[in-house]
Amino acid sequence: MALDQLSGKVAFITGAGSGLGAAFARRLAADGAFVVVNDINESADAVALEVNGASAVCDVTDSEALTAEIDHTVERRGRIDIMINNAGIAPPVDPARFEAAVANAMLRMEGRIDEMQALGAISGLSDAEWDLMIRTHLYGTFFGTRAALRHMETARSGLIVNISSVLGLLPAPGAAHYSAAKAAIIAFTKSTALEVAHLGIRANAVCPGYVDTPLLASADDRMMAGIKLNIGMGRLATAAELAELVRFLCGPESSYSNGDVYPATGAYS
Ligand SMILES: NC(=O)c1ccc[n+]([C@@H]2O[C@H](COP(=O)([O-])OP(=O)(O)OC[C@H]3O[C@@H](n4cnc5c(N)ncnc54)[C@H](O)[C@@H]3O)[C@@H](O)[C@H]2O)c1
Repeated sequence: MALDQLSGKVAFITGAGSGLGAAFARRLAADGAFVVVNDINESADAVALEVNGASAVCDVTDSEALTAEIDHTVERRGRIDIMINNAGIAPPVDPARFEAAVANAMLRMEGRIDEMQALGAISGLSDAEWDLMIRTHLYGTFFGTRAALRHMETARSGLIVNISSVLGLLPAPGAAHYSAAKAAIIAFTKSTALEVAHLGIRANAVCPGYVDTPLLASADDRMMAGIKLNIGMGRLATAAELAELVRFLCGPESSYSNGDVYPATGAYS
């Protein structure tokens, strides 16, 4: 593959100051794309410098600010070819709830269902926690897609990649708000593709399994061991592995992929 296959393309990636988004930025830049690196904080600046791109610091839940950054990208660079809606936050880790879930799993194996405890992850969820999770993932993806489409529809060309999660396909207990947001992103992506495919615009969703990024930093060794129990390959993905999939979806190699959902889970169950 020619290393300059994305030469002349302009990509805007949200939440790219860290983890997966930063890996996507490096991968697309390596193939010649000009990358605008968004993040809510100044972490975007270092990645932008590294990939020889531009930094766009704003909160993806701030519709006006994100739209302005995307419009500004088109004003400065003349186009936006690739929009990756990636910014995200993790469901907070609750060690006590994790221990209760482990104890419940043991009781379930022994058939002692009546002794299993309530986890309280939904009944104890605050309005603010629900709101932040849905706003960051679902509203952020909508705001980014809408702003990019306003330019892509005129250009009759464009690629959108939305970062969902395996938990949007296989929801887990304890993270209902995260799973709901990620599942909604899948439906939103399919709907987007149905609406704009005839304009030469493609929209696809990626559902990573567990990836070794700062997002998982709050999980301790015991929790990580619990997570790996459910991964057939017995290890987390690297961000670079997911970047290869995203690179595929951002290039001509995936020309017939539209409205499609790409899990990369390492055989997660
Ligand atoms: N790491 C995993 O195991 C995993 C698995 C499945 C899906 N994902 C998804 O991948 C995406 C990237 O996660 P990651 O693992 O790289 O995590 P990460 O914490 O390394 O990176 C996420 C980035 O998003 C930024 N961000 C958070 N809220 C933002 C906001 N409102 N506006 C702008 N930027 C914001 C953070 O500052 C951070 O730099 C997320 O959507 C996450 O849900 C991650």
